[in-house]
Amino acid sequence: MSSHSDDNRHDNRQESFRELLRSLRVWDTELPRFDPGSAPADPLPLFQQWLRAAAEAGAPEPHTMSLATADADGRPSVRTLMLHDADERGWHFATHRTSHKGQDLAVRPQAALGFYWAAVGRQVRVRGTVTAASAAESRADLAKRSTGALAAALVGHQSEALASLSDLARASDAAWERARREPDAPADSWTLYVLEAEEVEFFQGDEQRRHVRLAYRRTEDGSWARELLWP
Ligand SMILES: Cc1cc2nc3c(=O)[nH]c(=O)nc-3n(C[C@H](O)[C@H](O)[C@H](O)COP(=O)(O)O)c2cc1C
Repeated sequence: MSSHSDDNRHDNRQESFRELLRSLRVWDTELPRFDPGSAPADPLPLFQQWLRAAAEAGAPEPHTMSLATADADGRPSVRTLMLHDADERGWHFATHRTSHKGQDLAVRPQAALGFYWAAVGRQVRVRGTVTAASAAESRADLAKRSTGALAAALVGHQSEALASLSDLARASDAAWERARREPDAPADSWTLYVLEAEEVEFFQGDEQRRHVRLAYRRTEDGSWARELLWP
């Protein structure tokens, strides 16, 4: 049973947490302007330009993004991933086919990506259909990455229950050793995925909350329609 003073301590902690949240600010720095009138007909060059601008403005890890998927029952999940490329085919990322997200994508190949670069007050949202690349292309993509990326892929078992951290340390040591010795080692479940966008939305934050939102939607003939959205 909790005592009166435990309850007080809990209330104080909760209040100080809420004060912290209220004291934090967004869009409190000088932000770039975005003129949607000068935006290109296709979202890809604008996305590349925004990622580059975020990197140049010092946004930490601007190539990381949230990936949202849903399972067979429609239950959503979200997690952070690295962007490997964005080109005419779509937005590329890699993970284990056997992971939670890999299983989601196998039953529902629709997903959404979210990027937020606080340094420039910009958000990009992408929604579309995801396709798994071939084993050869997945392996070639991994080959371009670091020894650490190969070691992580070789550890495997992603999203399975882990009995202890020492089990992880053992598997990781073995994977690093193999990755150094055998740079072409197969990482069977590691898969490159490409999300072909159907919608891409660009959001430019504004100190006066007059945020600019520009949404691109792919039309039946394969071109892009654009419209502004209320913030
Ligand atoms: C900055 C950052 C980058 C990450 N990049 C990847 C990635 O590229 N691929 C990946 O499988 N997991 C990556 N992860 C781990 C995922 O967020 C997630 O924990 C893992 O993929 C398991 O997700 P799942 O259980 O939903 O399948 C990254 C995590 C962080 C914090």
